Amino acid sequence: MKILFIGSRLYDDVDWYVKEKGIESVLTESNENAINLDLPDQVFIVPRGMDGPKQVALMQNVDAIVPLIGIDPPLIDVARMKEEVEEEYGIPVVAAGVRAVELTSNKIKTKEFYSQIGVETPQYQILNGPDELTLEFPVVLKQGEGQGGKDIMVAKTIEDVNEYFENFDQALCERFIEGSEISIEVLGFDGQYVALPPIYKGETTLEGTHPLNKVKTGPCMVEGLDNNLVQHTAYKVAKNLDSDGIFEMDFMYSKKDNQLYAIEVNTRPNGTRYLTTATCGVNSLCELINMAAGEFSLADISDRLEYNYSTEIPVGNYEGPAVNEPVKSFKVNDFVVHGPEGYQRVTAKASSKTELEKLVEKLT
Ligand SMILES: Nc1ncnc2c1ncn2[C@@H]1O[C@H](COP(=O)(O)OP(=O)(O)O)[C@@H](O)[C@H]1O
Ligand SMILES: [Mg+2]
Repeated sequence: MKILFIGSRLYDDVDWYVKEKGIESVLTESNENAINLDLPDQVFIVPRGMDGPKQVALMQNVDAIVPLIGIDPPLIDVARMKEEVEEEYGIPVVAAGVRAVELTSNKIKTKEFYSQIGVETPQYQILNGPDELTLEFPVVLKQGEGQGGKDIMVAKTIEDVNEYFENFDQALCERFIEGSEISIEVLGFDGQYVALPPIYKGETTLEGTHPLNKVKTGPCMVEGLDNNLVQHTAYKVAKNLDSDGIFEMDFMYSKKDNQLYAIEVNTRPNGTRYLTTATCGVNSLCELINMAAGEFSLADISDRLEYNYSTEIPVGNYEGPAVNEPVKSFKVNDFVVHGPEGYQRVTAKASSKTELEKLVEKLT
C-alpha cells in the first residue's frame, strides 16, 4: 500500500500509524522549510495548488491520496482534484467533494443548507449596512469565510455595528446565543457515517472569546443536553453533505431556549481531534488512512470505542513530564502535547474525573 499525503504540517500526527501499518508514504509540500519533511519515505516539493500532488500521485503510482490540510482556503481545489482523479484515474482521494466544500466553506450557505435539511441554526440576517439591522442586541457579526474567530465581533450596540462596517460592506448577523459550545467529529466514507462523542468547549461570552483559548472537556456533559441529540443531528448533517473524510461541526446549546443550534461545519482535520481521540480512542486522522486502505469499518470503530474523561488545556510551552514514543499516540500515552511553541496545548485522558484531575495537576 502506497499513499500520497498532501501537506506536511499535520504529518507527525500520523507518521507513527503509517509506519505501524507498513504503508509506503509519499508526501507533497509547497514550503521547502516546512516541518516534518524528514518523516515520510519520499518528499516532493511542488508549487502551491493541486496540479503538483496530482502529477506526483500518477508518477508514483499511489493507491490513494490523503490530504492533511488543516486550513480552509485550499479545500475547494482539493475537492476538484478529488473528483477528477477519482473519475479519470480511479485513485481514491479521502476528502470532501465540491458540493460539500461549497456548502460548508461559506457560513451563509451553511445556514441555508441547515434550513433546507431541517436543522436548527441561530436566527440571522444578511446585513448590507448597519441601518438594516432588525435583530435585537447582542448580535454576532461574521464574514462568510474565516476560521479561528477571524472577522467576528459580538456587537452590543449600534456603535459596534457601525465600527464593524468600517471594515466590511456586508455581514452575516446572527442572534447571540448564550450557552454552551460543543464540537463533534463525524467520519464518513463511501456512504457510511459515524458520529464520535461530542466535546464541550466552554460557554459563549460577550467578548466572543474563541474556544481555541478555553479549557475543553470530553465527553460533553451539559445539563439538559442529550449527547444522542448532538450525535444524531451531526450524523444527519454529514449524511446530507454526502461526502468523504472528516466533518467537524460546531453547535451551541441554549438552556433558556432548550435548543441545540448548529453553527458551522469544517470538512478537514480540526482542533477537536485530540480530545475526540482522548475521549473515545478513535483518531480521525488515522481513520483517514483506514479509509484510504479500504479498511474503514463502522463495526471495527464500535469495537474500539473507549469511554474516558478528557481535557485539553492551553499551556503555552509544555514543561511537564516526558511523553512516550510515539509522542502523538494515545495508545501509549495518557496525554499528548501539540501545537506550535508558545501556543502548545496538553490533551489528557483518564478513566475517572478524579484521576483526570490528578493527572492534570502533574502535567501543568
Ligand atoms: N451566534 C453566536 N452566539 C454566541 N457566540 C457566537 C455565535 N457565533 C459565534 N460565536 C462565537 O464566535 C466563535 C467563532 O464563531 P464561528 O462561527 O465558529 O467561526 P470560526 O470559523 O471563526 O470558528 C464561536 O466559537 C463562539 O465563541
Ligand atoms: Mg468555529
